[in-house]
This record gives sequence, structure tokens and C-alpha cells, in this order.
Amino acid sequence: MSQLIAIVLAAGHGTRMKSSLSKVLHPACGRPLVYYPVRAALDAGADRVVVVANPATAEPISSELRKHIPPESFQIAIQEVPRGTGDAVRAAVTTLAQSDEDRVLILSGDVPLLTAEDLLPLVAELSDKGVQLSFMAFHAEDPTGYGRVLRNESGKPVEIREHRDLETEAERGIKEVNAGVYAARFSPLLRAVSNLKSNNAQGEYYLTDVVLSIAEQNDVRVVQASPEVLSGVNDRAQLSEVESVLFARIRTKFAQNGVTIVGSPLIDDTVKIAPEARIEAGVRLRGRTVIGARTLVDVGCVVNDTSVGEDVVVKPYCVLTESTVGSRVELGPFAHLRPKSVLEDECHIGNFVETKNSLVKKGAKANHLTYLGDAEVGEKSNIGAGTIVCNYDGFSKRRTVIGKGVFIGSDTQLVAPVTVGDRAYVATNTTVTKDVPEGALAIGRSQQINKEGYGDALRERLAEAARLLKAKK
Ligand code: UD1
Ligand code: CA
Repeated sequence: MSQLIAIVLAAGHGTRMKSSLSKVLHPACGRPLVYYPVRAALDAGADRVVVVANPATAEPISSELRKHIPPESFQIAIQEVPRGTGDAVRAAVTTLAQSDEDRVLILSGDVPLLTAEDLLPLVAELSDKGVQLSFMAFHAEDPTGYGRVLRNESGKPVEIREHRDLETEAERGIKEVNAGVYAARFSPLLRAVSNLKSNNAQGEYYLTDVVLSIAEQNDVRVVQASPEVLSGVNDRAQLSEVESVLFARIRTKFAQNGVTIVGSPLIDDTVKIAPEARIEAGVRLRGRTVIGARTLVDVGCVVNDTSVGEDVVVKPYCVLTESTVGSRVELGPFAHLRPKSVLEDECHIGNFVETKNSLVKKGAKANHLTYLGDAEVGEKSNIGAGTIVCNYDGFSKRRTVIGKGVFIGSDTQLVAPVTVGDRAYVATNTTVTKDVPEGALAIGRSQQINKEGYGDALRERLAEAARLLKAKK
């Protein structure tokens, strides 16, 4: 079987991003830009992908890509100096020992909308015996800056001439332009890039010159593509446009898989959502987030790297980060799960409740205005409104352990480290500083005194004082 090798060109400097980060490492929908052409090439059947980087970006591109695709499916080739696209391809092909039947697919690291479906027709052209090279072209209303496709009298493509090397008005008027995506047989490509010269307007080794040299003796094919899928990213405005298109594709993919999508939630490409979940408008799902079947994520929630089980209701405006939520849980509105929160099945975490590094066991509830940090709450325990776990003394964090079936009254403070035994009651407004035994009642508040008639007397005194003040003015 002949191999298909893809080369992704990414050694350019991308100065228009105005960024210290390499252009192709800017994220779009939770993945680095360069991931998308690599993915498209692999989906189109590439056995391996060679990403051409410059000496400064080789290492970051390699480590970033490893987070998204198996390390054995790509390798990095280094182009020492950016001497043009032809030189970049040379840097890649000279590291390969391929046979003549092998084919090479070439694309750019900054063109993330191309998919395998777009690439397959290009590769298919090579199955015709006489064809050694094919490339994608499109019709540009304004062809400025693009290489133009020059054809001979019989309409055969014979050359790509770069914008700055055009000589006549007629040439400048050509609107059929090179998209910068190519498929070629390995040996003729290797020969052609080895012989490239840099005697042109930019003093660069143009990859496009391989068209001229190959077309002299063999068939070169052009595959027409739609300009939309070829949108490149040169600055952050284009990055934002391209990301919007990717987000729309992700929504369509989930909708086709049985997820209800309302409006335009923004869902990273890395997120997994089970069928019959419902994702509402204004939701942002990021990173390694997983949403279970029939779960509702209501308006305005932000979910980062969090796994949410089945039949969960996440009410509006919750923020969930690096946490795990079981099934049939109710969350929010306005709940905040900070890293390492684990909620077992059937928990209720209500409005203005914040959790961090805490385990809330099955069926436990904290419905209102509560902070649980470095805490464990046992099965079916109920945490009253305004309960605060005091886990931090300004120097170190300590744990609070609340047993099963415990009732914590409203406005309780639990000063860690402290343990509340199973079935214990903690009375409202208690500051718990000592462990509470199983089944005990803890009560720690000053006694209430009622003074008969004092309320009425106080009201009269205050009213009289206010009258006097008004009269003075
Ligand atoms: C290229 C084509 C042009 C085509 C256009 C489509 C050439 C000579 N011209 O022009 O015909 O119409 O794409 O967008 O190929 N790169 C390197 N090393 C280098 C130079 C570039 O890796 O030394 C990489 C860049 O990072 C980029 C890709 O190659 O990913 C394309 O380079 P770019 O400079 O954008 O090519 P264009 O001048 O736009
Ligand atoms: Ca109090």
C-alpha cells in the first residue's frame, strides 16, 4: 500500500497576530490552530503528518499538539530560516525516505476550516496514472496578493505566478488563484523542490514553482474549492471569524447527534455531550468537559474541564471548574464549583453556594448562600442557609468532615479542623470549634432575653428624637 504523508507548513512568523505566542498555537474552540489541518489530513487518510516549524516554535508546537493527537501520528521538521514555502517543503521531504508510489499532501498551518472532505478530491486526482501534482484553486473577486493560475491555449494549468512576479495587466486580471493546498507524488515532488531557485521578486524559494517544472512533462490538475473553507488566519480579527465558523460547525455536529442546542452556546471541540442533553443560549463549555444524557445546562453557565452526569439540572449562571458532578444533581442558579469539587448523585447545590476541594456525598443538600472548602458532607446531610466552613487561617487549609444525615442549622460557622458525627444537629448560629459526637446537638450561641414593653418604648423615643431634629432645621 502506498503511503500518504501530509506536510503542514507552519514555520512563518505570523507577526500580524502581535503576539509572543506562535500564530498556529493560538487557540480556536479549545484547540491550537495547527491542530485543525493536522486533523483534516489524518481524517483524509494521511498515515503521518510532518509539521514544519521554525527553531523557536518546534518545541511548543510539538508539546501542544501532543495534547490533542497521538504522538506517533505526527513529527516536526525544522526550517532553519524562513526562505519561502518551497524551502519549507524541502525541509520536510528531505527528512523522509518514501517510495515513488507514496503521495504527499501539503497544507498550511493557519487554514483551519479545511476538512477531510475538501482534501479527498485533491488526493483522488493522483489516482490517474499520468498525474503527478494537483492543487486547489478558487475564484477570488479580489485576487491581490494571491498566486495566479496560468493556463495554456488548451486550458491546461502550466504555472502559478506569484502576485509580485506578474508582468502584464492581463495576468493581473486573472481571478483564478492558488489556495496553497497541494497533493503530489513523492519522487517528482522531491526532485522539483530540490531544484527550486530563488530568482524572483521576493528572493524566496516558491513552492508554486514546482507546478511549472512538473507541468513541463506531466499532467497537473486543478481542483476548484470554495473560498470560505480556505479562509486563513493572519490576525486576531480573522482568528475570531474563523473560530465563529468552527463553533457553528460544533453546534451542528452535536445537534445532529441528538443534543438540543438553543441559540448559540460556545462549545469547545474537545467537549463531549451525550444525546438528549440540552444546552441553552450563552453557555460556554470548555476543555475536557463532559455532559451526560438528558442533562440541562441552562442559560449563561460556564463549564470548564468538568464532568457532569445524567439527568442533571444546571440552572442559569453557574460556574463549574475542574469538578465532577454525579447524576440527578440540581445545581444553581448561581452556584460556583471550584476545582476538585465532587458532587455525588442526587445532591442539591443551590444559589450562591461555593464549593472547593470538597466531597458532597449522595443526596446531600446545601441550597443557599454557603461556602464548603476542604470539606466532606455525608449522605443526605442538610446544610442550612449561610453556613460557612472556615477552612483557612491565613496560613494553612484544614478539613471539615460532616457525617451522614447531619442537620446543620442556618448561619453556622465550622472552624476547621472539625468533625461533625453522623445524625448530629448543629443549632442555628452556632460557631463549631469542637468535634460534635454522633447523634449529638451542638448549640453555641448567647441566650436570648425578652424585655417586656421595651420595643414600644424604644420606638417612641426614636420618633421623638427625629421630630426634634426636624423642628431645629
Ligand atoms: C502562498 C502561495 C500563493 C497562494 C497563497 C494562498 C507561495 C510562494 N505562494 O502565498 O500562491 O495564493 O499562499 O494563501 O507558496 N511558510 C513556512 N516557511 C516559509 C514561508 C512560509 O513555513 O519560509 C508557511 C507559513 O507559515 C504559512 C504557509 O507557509 O503557513 C504559507 O506561507 P505564506 O507566506 O502565507 O504564503 P503566501 O505568500 O500567502
Ligand atoms: Ca452569627
